[in-house]
Amino acid sequence: MAIRRYRPSDFDGVQSLWEEAFPNDPPWNRAKAAIPAKLAFQPDLLFVAVEGGAVIGSVMAGYDGHRGWLYAMAVRRDCRRGGVGTALVREAERALAALGCEKVNLQVRASNEAVARFYTKLGYAIEDRISLGRRLLAEP
Ligand SMILES: CC(C)(COP(=O)(O)OP(=O)(O)OC[C@H]1O[C@@H](n2cnc3c(N)ncnc32)[C@H](O)[C@@H]1OP(=O)(O)O)[C@@H](O)C(=O)NCCC(=O)NCCS
Repeated sequence: MAIRRYRPSDFDGVQSLWEEAFPNDPPWNRAKAAIPAKLAFQPDLLFVAVEGGAVIGSVMAGYDGHRGWLYAMAVRRDCRRGGVGTALVREAERALAALGCEKVNLQVRASNEAVARFYTKLGYAIEDRISLGRRLLAEP
């Protein structure tokens, strides 16, 4: 298993991975919209885990000069609990730290306790915040 930056040839693999991991995501989070947008902005912060030529994991990071963020953390169902997710997070953290990022934030749906356990195992703390958001563009 190798962790490396996303390449255009990874698109189909990442799309399948996200369809499996995030079946209920809104259209703007799907690969067709989110990957071109990411490649247009901080393209070096999209990582994949690859095994035998197949994409088995992904993570997207962003740094705005103040905080780093993680998104699209996913490992193919049949490859979980083998350390792939941990390796992806650590690679994204390394890339963020290299940009001067001091702190990483991320959001987990309140119902997704397993993922909260994954991140707390990796040293992340659940912080007492209310998460707010507003779409600035119409739905695609
Ligand atoms: C979360 C996810 C990326 C973890 O990937 P992974 O490759 O299985 O993670 P790791 O093997 O590196 O796990 C490291 C540790 O995290 C914890 N952990 C991982 N998955 C867990 C789960 N489902 N329940 C409880 N703890 C879990 C364990 O302590 C694990 O160590 P262990 O296997 O030695 O006990 C994967 O389960 C996934 O893709 N989930 C669906 C997508 C998703 O919801 N993403 C998050 C969006 S916010």
